[in-house]
Amino acid sequence: MRQSSLVVVANRLPLDDSAAPDGACEWRRSPGGLASALHAILEQTPATWVGWAGGVGPAPTLPDIGSLRIRPIALSEAELRGYYEGFANSTLWPLYHDAVEQPVFDRGWWETYQAVNRRFAEAAAEVAEPQAAVWVQDYHLQLVPQMLRELRPDLLIGFFLHVPFPPPELFTQLPRRVELLRGMLGADLVGFQRPQAAHNIAQLATRLLGAQATDDTILLDGRTVRTGAFPVSIDVAEMQALARRPDVVSQAEQLRIRLGRPRRVLLSVDRLDYTKGIEHRLTAYSELLRDGRVQVHDSVVVQVAVPSRERVDSYKVLRDRIEGEVGRINGEYGRVGEPAIHYLNQPFDRAELAALYQTADVMVVTPLRDGMNLVAKEYVAARADGSGALVLSEFAGAAAELEDAFLVNPHDVDGLKDTLLQAMDASPADLKRRMAAMREHLRNHDILAWARAYLTELDHTGRLAERLPTPPPGQPPRTRPARPVPRQRTVARRRPRA
Ligand code: ADP
Ligand code: G6P
Repeated sequence: MRQSSLVVVANRLPLDDSAAPDGACEWRRSPGGLASALHAILEQTPATWVGWAGGVGPAPTLPDIGSLRIRPIALSEAELRGYYEGFANSTLWPLYHDAVEQPVFDRGWWETYQAVNRRFAEAAAEVAEPQAAVWVQDYHLQLVPQMLRELRPDLLIGFFLHVPFPPPELFTQLPRRVELLRGMLGADLVGFQRPQAAHNIAQLATRLLGAQATDDTILLDGRTVRTGAFPVSIDVAEMQALARRPDVVSQAEQLRIRLGRPRRVLLSVDRLDYTKGIEHRLTAYSELLRDGRVQVHDSVVVQVAVPSRERVDSYKVLRDRIEGEVGRINGEYGRVGEPAIHYLNQPFDRAELAALYQTADVMVVTPLRDGMNLVAKEYVAARADGSGALVLSEFAGAAAELEDAFLVNPHDVDGLKDTLLQAMDASPADLKRRMAAMREHLRNHDILAWARAYLTELDHTGRLAERLPTPPPGQPPRTRPARPVPRQRTVARRRPRA
């Protein structure tokens, strides 16, 4: 096995197998924020990605993607259930998202989670050169940093959590809280989307492990673990280039015609997930129709809900509820040839997404809780002419950066209705001003800036960051975190309490 000096370890590979139109197996980019973000930088960087290709049974043989080598990890049916569908997506995912859905604590899943984490750690140890950097991603692999440190103490180990890291009141519900915390803290640098998360882990390390902690340093077992906020972003240049492509522009025009040339197109693009607030949004829209504040011939809603985690019960139930509600709204308010909601439960390629973003006068991104939400950033990047309105939940990490969006509390259905109308009726001058400010922010905070900031903090010599693709002309290389992180709030030391 060839070794690399940079290894990324993430549950999901950036490829999904899907059937091509002729029935053959075809690999396409997987939906989801993590794969979108990392794919953009790693394609051009000599590195190895250790991850799962979806499906069960022996790992498939996968081609390199540009200069990126792929090291697939196999999962059995029982592992898929216990590790991915169980502990990762029925325990950690809901708990880390404010428990908007009840987390399931099933004692049988823990051993599988540990065993699969060990398999990822062993694969990473095998493909990492001496003194290599290994960058572990997300809640599926929280035990990997410590396991890897035991296997390969020579490595530089980074961990980045793409989802929110909850406050102690929620995290301490976890029966395996001490092991999970120790697992993450096996890294040299633990990165989060928001400064609040670094504060939460400092409190937890103090309370549960008796560590000495500030909001950017945790002293544990004689070792210093650094923590900080590094808000993830998108490949802005890629989305801008797509949005300018003549075939995408004409596809967007065609879409508008097919939608009946309404005055306003409202668009939402989500994985079909209960954190995304799709039901609250449907309620708000249906009430606007009921109250006569919007009409179907005038405003059209397009809801893209890409299938996700389809065997997990809560996702099955959610899909049934959403599809029932879309059917009810269309039955009640639609007219022949004029549905109130165009509902698409399918994946799209990047160009199709860019065309959809261009068609949307109002982009509605209203998760109940979201680590970042890259869809909001993609929409802003795709609005080449500076028009368009973004309605954005206060509870998405992106809200801290895209402050000129129409910010909204998605739990407040009346507030959501008013904000939707406000965005639909805003003056072109107001929209242009808001969009210009958001586009300016994104220009300086793209995916490269994120990776550069994180890798420079991981390795102060700059050796890692230097290997990333060069920034587009006019954009200075960043060497510090993209946004300032509050520093040095000391958390009092307490006795460990397991
Ligand atoms: P999450 O990380 O929870 O999936 P994000 O909004 O951060 O949410 O990221 C979603 C990513 O998945 C975006 O890059 C988006 O373009 C992509 N995506 C969403 N819906 C689709 C779809 N129907 N087809 C293909 N990609 C999609
Ligand atoms: C979020 C998670 C990622 C995950 C993605 C898609 O972005 O943070 O780790 O890959 O959702 O979910 P899936 O279960 O399909 O990988």
